[in-house]
Amino acid sequence: MNEMFSIAGKVAVITGAGGVLGGSIARSFIKAGAKVAAIDIRQENLDVRIKELKELGGDVVGLVANALDITSLEKAAQDVVKQWGRIDILLNIAGGNLPGATLAPEQSFFDMNIADWDKVTRLNLDGTVYPSYAFGKVMAEQGKGSIINISSMAAYSAITRVPGYSAAKSAVTNFTQWLATEVALKYGDGIRVNAIAPGFFIGDQNRAVLINPDGSLTERSVKVIAKTPMKRFGDINELNGAVQFLCSDAASFITGALLPIDGGFSAFSGV
Ligand SMILES: NC(=O)c1ccc[n+]([C@@H]2O[C@H](COP(=O)([O-])OP(=O)(O)OC[C@H]3O[C@@H](n4cnc5c(N)ncnc54)[C@H](O)[C@@H]3O)[C@@H](O)[C@H]2O)c1
Repeated sequence: MNEMFSIAGKVAVITGAGGVLGGSIARSFIKAGAKVAAIDIRQENLDVRIKELKELGGDVVGLVANALDITSLEKAAQDVVKQWGRIDILLNIAGGNLPGATLAPEQSFFDMNIADWDKVTRLNLDGTVYPSYAFGKVMAEQGKGSIINISSMAAYSAITRVPGYSAAKSAVTNFTQWLATEVALKYGDGIRVNAIAPGFFIGDQNRAVLINPDGSLTERSVKVIAKTPMKRFGDINELNGAVQFLCSDAASFITGALLPIDGGFSAFSGV
């Protein structure tokens, strides 16, 4: 591969590495020669991931940590530095919607469960800010590093039924721009912060609202496909190249950017 796009030898911390998207990116990073510190709150998810990454021949360490707990994140950051001496990349993948935070079709905003609003906004916003604080501090000391956050199509324009997830992902976009600006001004051009905005991918968190039990498209997913010029859902592996590019030297002048990976969904008015 062209050297410019290489991440070989880089140390990457991946939160939510036990999940669908984190797993796909972790496998692609290992195949690209990166060292991976896989972080997840669930030991059982981590065990499966570490076994799989080791079978790929990867240089990998698994750390149980909560993206909402600074103490556990700072301990994890120390462990990674002890293991490999530095942290080049942080992928803030832990996050997602929660079933209780999605309004049923017949519910209104005023039926929303406030406790679930709190949980989903915390997971997606604080769950991005706290790891950036703990691992970003190491990057600030190094004067070098790349952080990638996960925003959403819900950050561009309103998507019905998911108020907490949408608000938190919009905040992730804003935090990406804020932190990119802050670290470039204070620490120079070696630290970059960007976000990707995945379009519609079938994952465990949204399968039930997009696919009927008989495998056909739900009313909601028919609308999604109608507004996607490429006329299909994304394959989870289609995020990997974009993430690698943003972490590589090929993106050395890109910071504060939000890259949609959406088959054209965000570009299309629907008309
Ligand atoms: N799947 C999609 O279609 C899609 C689309 C757009 C954006 N995203 C975003 O991608 C990210 C990952 O989605 P996914 O589908 O892989 O989710 P997932 O549920 O498969 O994985 C999430 C992982 O994060 C872990 N986790 C949860 N809370 C944590 C915490 N507090 N600390 C550490 N780990 C924690 C979980 O144990 C799980 O292993 C989320 O931010 C989600 O919003 C996904």
